[in-house]
Amino acid sequence: VTESIYDHPVLCRPARPADRDAVMVITADIWDGEDYVPHVWDHWFWQDPGLLAVAEQDGQVVAQGHLLDMGLGEWWLRGLRVDPNHQGQGIGAHMHRYFVDQWLRTEGEVVRLATHAHRTAVHRMCDQTGFSRVATIVLAEAEPLNKGGTSDLQAIDSLAAASASERLGRSALAHALNGLMDLGWRFAQVRAERLLAETDLVLLRHAPSDSLLAIRPAGQDQRQAQLAAIEASTDDMGAVLASARLWAAENELDGVVWLAPDDDAFVQLAEAAGFGIERDDTLFIYERRR
Ligand SMILES: CC(C)(COP(=O)(O)OP(=O)(O)OC[C@H]1O[C@@H](n2cnc3c(N)ncnc32)[C@H](O)[C@@H]1OP(=O)(O)O)[C@@H](O)C(=O)NCCC(=O)NCCS
Repeated sequence: VTESIYDHPVLCRPARPADRDAVMVITADIWDGEDYVPHVWDHWFWQDPGLLAVAEQDGQVVAQGHLLDMGLGEWWLRGLRVDPNHQGQGIGAHMHRYFVDQWLRTEGEVVRLATHAHRTAVHRMCDQTGFSRVATIVLAEAEPLNKGGTSDLQAIDSLAAASASERLGRSALAHALNGLMDLGWRFAQVRAERLLAETDLVLLRHAPSDSLLAIRPAGQDQRQAQLAAIEASTDDMGAVLASARLWAAENELDGVVWLAPDDDAFVQLAEAAGFGIERDDTLFIYERRR
């Protein structure tokens, strides 16, 4: 992006196994010790395609982050962390530029990230590197519904996935999310190849209303169903959201999570279906295209 990233006192480079301890130390106090990065670092390092990197200053690791290759030309930036003793010194912005620069060397069409609506430092970095804000998300959560009948959700086989994805992609929900769907705190464009490639995504049809739903039964260390995409008319949306809660109970999950658009109509439908909205957890999705 700029030549200045190569003559900065901070050196960004791919992570090595020996960086693990330093990353554990710098993340230990982030978010009052609740940071998820320590729990996923090994997985990111050994399993996930892309670039896990650290930033070094005077031979000491002071920051880290991950550029995930989601396939299909879509990349996702996550886990940017600067040592609390070194925050506010330009290191985060420097590392962000390094990731964008590395991404530009790939064939990637788009790189995205999610950040808290209050995290001004990340908004600044995005503004300075050609990203634009494409969606605003609120966290909606509901308990499983143990009474009120069966969910009436039927699995859709892979043969029907192409037409299902077309409908999901044209849905009002996809429209409100700029064509994106949630794959477990990372967003990607709704399309058939993605629905087929994501093995932990279940495609369901709500029989009474002929609506469609894509759900992730449970995340890495949570037992909640995560709603990825929904196609339903405004009139049917409430019944579909209730069916997701019934489905969670049928599958013995602890609840339903929906990263919903911050849009009055969707928020009201979610609340009417028994979802609680966590206003403090509003997220911005940014993306940069080639
Ligand atoms: C968020 C984080 C990555 C930012 O990195 P950083 O090195 O502290 O930030 P920088 O010093 O590079 O600042 C980047 C920009 O944000 C601004 N900024 C930094 N901290 C800020 C703050 N608390 N409030 C407002 N603006 C801030 C800087 O002035 C700079 O803008 P400028 O280029 O216009 O001067 C880092 O603070 C961090 O690791 N926080 C905890 C974990 C986290 O929240 N990660 C991000 C998850 S998306």
